[in-house]
Parts: sequence; C-alpha cells; structure tokens
Amino acid sequence: MYFLKLVILTYFTLTAFSLSFSIDQTPCTSDGWFGANCEYQCHCAGSAPCDKHDGSCSSGCHRDWYGPACQYARMNFTVNGNFNSGWLTDNKDTTCNRGNLRSVTVTLDTPIPLTWLRVVVSDAVNLNMMFISYRNESSPYTECPESNTAEINRVTIDISCPTEYPITSVTLSGQGVNYLCSLYISAGRNVALAQRAKQSSWFNYLDRKHFLAEHAVDGQVPNNERSSNFLTCTHTDTGDKSPWWNVSFTQPVEITRFILENRRDCCQERLKNFLLTVYPVNDSYKPIEYRGSYNIKTTYLVVPSPRISFPVHQVKITEGFNPDRILTLCEVFIFGEIHCPSNRYGLSCERECNCVNQTRCFVHSGGCPSGCAPGYTGLDCSEG
Ligand SMILES: *[C@@H]1O[C@H](CO)[C@@H](O)[C@H](O)[C@H]1NC(C)=O
Ligand SMILES: *[C@@H]1O[C@H](CO)[C@@H](O)[C@H](O)[C@H]1NC(C)=O
Ligand SMILES: *[C@@H]1O[C@H](CO)[C@@H](O)[C@H](O)[C@H]1NC(C)=O
Ligand SMILES: *[C@@H]1O[C@H](CO)[C@@H](O)[C@H](O)[C@H]1NC(C)=O
Ligand SMILES: *[C@@H]1O[C@H](CO)[C@@H](O)[C@H](O)[C@H]1NC(C)=O
Repeated sequence: MYFLKLVILTYFTLTAFSLSFSIDQTPCTSDGWFGANCEYQCHCAGSAPCDKHDGSCSSGCHRDWYGPACQYARMNFTVNGNFNSGWLTDNKDTTCNRGNLRSVTVTLDTPIPLTWLRVVVSDAVNLNMMFISYRNESSPYTECPESNTAEINRVTIDISCPTEYPITSVTLSGQGVNYLCSLYISAGRNVALAQRAKQSSWFNYLDRKHFLAEHAVDGQVPNNERSSNFLTCTHTDTGDKSPWWNVSFTQPVEITRFILENRRDCCQERLKNFLLTVYPVNDSYKPIEYRGSYNIKTTYLVVPSPRISFPVHQVKITEGFNPDRILTLCEVFIFGEIHCPSNRYGLSCERECNCVNQTRCFVHSGGCPSGCAPGYTGLDCSEG
C-alpha cells in the first residue's frame, strides 16, 4: 500500500515536473506566434519572425504596432498645420523635428479614449520638457497629469493619461517639441487573441473543424476577395433559436474598443444588429450592452463612451434577429489591456513591480512613475 502510494506520488511529481519543464524549454513552434502557449501574435516589420520567448523583433515593429513585444496597436493620426511633418509620421525614431515649433497637434483617424502614449526625442535633456493635452469636439483642451510618466530609455518616455471619453486630438507643447522624433498613441493590445471561445451551437460543415468558436480569436482575418477564407470564421448551426458566441478571459481585462470582422464571401446581413455584452468580474457592477449597427458592414467598430469602467471577464455576442438566425464571425478583436493585481505587470501579469511605496507600475512596461523601491534600479526597476 505504502509502496503504491509512493509510486503514484513519484509519478505525479515527475509528470508535473516534465510538464513545467517542457513549457519552459519548448517555446511556441508555430510561425508568427510566440509565448509558452503560442498565445501572442508577432508584429515585426516586413512580417519577419519574432523571438519565440518574448516576441521582440530584431528589425523593429510593423508600422501598425509598437511598445513591448510590438503588442500595442498604434493609433493613426494626421498632423495639423502647414509644415513639413514627415519626421513625425514616417515611423522612424531617428528622424526628428529641427524647426522652431511651439506645439504640435495631431488629429486621430478614429476617436478612442486615451490610455497611454510614448514620446521619443533626439536630445535627452529635453525629455521632460513636454506638456501633453487632449480634447474632443465638444470639450476644451485638458492637460495630462505630469506625474504619471516613466522613462523607457534616455530619449523615450511613456505617459499614462486615461480619459473617460473618446478624444479626437492630442497636443504636445513645450521646449521638448523642438527635439520631437516620434509620437505613439496606444490603441490597446488585442486581449481576445487565443482566449477561450464558445458558441451556442456549431455548424459541422463537411465533417471538418471549420466554423469552430475559436476561429474568431485565431488572429486570422479573411482577405477582401471572395475566397474560401470564410472557413476560418465561426458559424452557429441552422435551427439554433438563440445563437450566441462568447469569449472568457484567463485574467480580467480593461477594454477600450471592439472590432468585429464580418465574412467577405457572403451572408453579411447575419451580423448586422448584433448585441455585444460585457460582463464585469465584480458582481456589484451590471453587464453593459452595445448594439451593432443596423447597416451591413464588413468591419464593425464599437467604441464604448464613456469607457468601460470595470475589469471584464467575459464578452458575449448575440445574433440580432436576422432572418437566417445564424451568427457568423470572422474575427473579434478586443483592444485594451490586461488588468493585473496592483503589484504585477507583463503580457500575462507574470512579472512583479518594484515601485517605491508599493505604488502601481505601468502594466505594459513595469516602469514606476514615482520611482523604484529602495534597492531596485533599471528602467523597469527589476535590477536589485
Ligand atoms: C492604421 O492604419 C492601418 C493602415 O490602414 C491599419 O491597418 C491599422 O489597423 C490602423 N490602426 C488603427 C489602430 O486603427
Ligand atoms: C467629449 O468629452 C466630454 C468630457 O470631456 C464628454 O462629456 C463628451 O461626451 C465627449 N464627446 C464625445 C463625442 O465623446
Ligand atoms: C459563455 O460560455 C460558457 C461556456 O459555454 C458559459 O458557461 C457561460 O455562461 C457563457 N457566458 C455567457 C455570459 O453567456
Ligand atoms: C466590488 O465592487 C464594489 C464597489 O466598487 C467594492 O466595494 C468591492 O470591494 C468589490 N469587490 C471585489 C471582490 O473586488
Ligand atoms: C513613500 O512613503 C513615505 C512615507 O509615507 C513618504 O515619506 C515618501 O515621501 C514616499 N516616497 C515617495 C517617492 O512617494
């Protein structure tokens, strides 16, 4: 008896050990993905492969992405005013302003709530000589708090400046503008990718694994031509009286916008009028519903206004009473940030903050706006 128990124990210990060993030692092998479970998509310039452990790109990020592991969507904007601003829009940190500018205002292509931004200058002395403000069409300019900044390197600074409402423009002013090279405004990272997805029923087409719920979070969007790419979309079964699809997050998330990609080949009317519901982690908040547009679209954008104020653990999409009663989605992008416990950061909150007085660090970088705890140094306060 005792012997048997020992054998079983040893067996389990060994299995557990080889499991964690294999997770640590065998990085993701599928092309274009990284992380222990291939849960993150690479976003390198020229579609180059990224580092299989940390997602970093030796050739830099693709121009739509920036920040740690190139995981943050970069907001598109146009520069106001009549001057040569190519240095600000060329996506290069090495081309900088050399004129005499008092301020720069940029207008976002799509209004979204502000979360954080990154500024790069050519002269380290001027890193902190910059004031940032924002507005929307109906509000006056409001300044971002100066205290919520963390240096990334000698010429790069991150500024946390969350707003409740979508904003339309950002203004940089102060002496630092003369040395400005780049401005990155975060449009969030896709927190839906590779999360657990379910649907009310499944249309088992040709007995293959087409149309599964997880196809809406697999990072694949059909190209614009009519093509068989619809096989990477989801599809509820015919005869399903109340079709829905949902995604559950392994960790709570903070959400600023949703993008729903419709099929390209046919049946686009099935998605119009969908209902999108966000479920809070904390039961003392009520779920919030957003209604999709009555017009048929290839891509639906939903920007909650005001911003969703609570961490979310599930998002559900319900079909909107269309004649077919079928819900079919090609991709659901949910942009935002993971909601880490106050002392953690990283793509999956895997790292520990080391800020002075246990203040919060930036979730994307570990940077401490109020400085490192005694005994720690480095830009993410991780060297001790
Ligand atoms: C910025 O524009 C590019 C090119 O049109 C597009 O692929 C990208 O999704 C846009 N980014 C955002 C955050 O909207
Ligand atoms: C603009 O911001 C103000 C508050 O700053 C808010 O009340 C208003 O609803 C916002 N407008 C839009 C169109 O988001
Ligand atoms: C989402 O799907 C899971 C699995 O089927 C289910 O347990 C959960 O209740 C669903 N959530 C909502 C809000 O419908
Ligand atoms: C849920 O939210 C309420 C109201 O904000 C708060 O008092 C409570 O502590 C929260 N509960 C948990 C478990 O976070
Ligand atoms: C940390 O907390 C102590 C005691 O409350 C305070 O004196 C000190 O100024 C704080 N340090 C920072 C950098 O906030």
